[in-house]
Amino acid sequence: MKKTVRTFQMAKENGRKITMLTTYDYSTARLMDEAGIDAVLVGDSLGNTMLGYEDTVSVTMEDMIHHGAAVARGAGSMMVVVDMPFMSFQTGVYDALANAGRLMKEGRAAAVKLEGGKTVCPQIKAITGAGIPVMAHLGLTPQSVNAFGGNRVQGKSEEAAKQIIEDAYAVQEAGAFAVVLECIPAKLASLITNKLDIPTIGIGAGNGCDGQILVYQDMLGMFSDYVPKFAKKFADVGTVMKSAFADYIKEVSDGIYPSEEHTFKIDDEVLEKLY
Ligand code: KIV
Repeated sequence: MKKTVRTFQMAKENGRKITMLTTYDYSTARLMDEAGIDAVLVGDSLGNTMLGYEDTVSVTMEDMIHHGAAVARGAGSMMVVVDMPFMSFQTGVYDALANAGRLMKEGRAAAVKLEGGKTVCPQIKAITGAGIPVMAHLGLTPQSVNAFGGNRVQGKSEEAAKQIIEDAYAVQEAGAFAVVLECIPAKLASLITNKLDIPTIGIGAGNGCDGQILVYQDMLGMFSDYVPKFAKKFADVGTVMKSAFADYIKEVSDGIYPSEEHTFKIDDEVLEKLY
């Protein structure tokens, strides 16, 4: 059965941890669905992991629609959340609504995610009012990397922590069905999780959240440009891939691949007539 916003709410009520990963393509989505992941985020982190940008600010609506639709085709029972890229919602309610609509109609999103607290609550209200579920995102919000002066832990001072708590209440009040808490102290994330009725999804926010999300290349050891402290490597797929590429080069160079079993045949009588 397709997982939905109700799955998120029931998980929070029953104390079952929600599992999310980012993904950006059909075949990876299928593997995650077969493994039993609840929901995938087509994150604008694809700017880093798939497109090689140094940050997420250059990611476009077209990028998100292209990858969102591919993931949706392979998602099976997983819920697909698609990120709203930089400047697709910050410019106002009209743009936010129109672009969230495109992510749902063209990108096949079941929900959209957008970064920010109080200041984007009018957008969250308008989008949810149109029947599009919104996942909020607080703490380290990578689209604001230039304002933060780098990717640093947020909410460490009393003032900053209070601001995140206020923002969490505000996005819940505005209608968000869940909120990502990125790179904030674990005890602050637990406090917010206990205060909110909607589920919190942590990334670099300790294990007190209602669920967790990781960038899949980080958890598979496939992306070494930047490895955050919180990213646990669950498998070293990068090393496995490099070794397979090297084996391929060797076998092709040595004439070992393709062998008999990977080769198509033609009858000798047919072949003779070709000379
Ligand atoms: O874009 C992304 O992958 C994200 C996650 C890190 C939460 O926003």
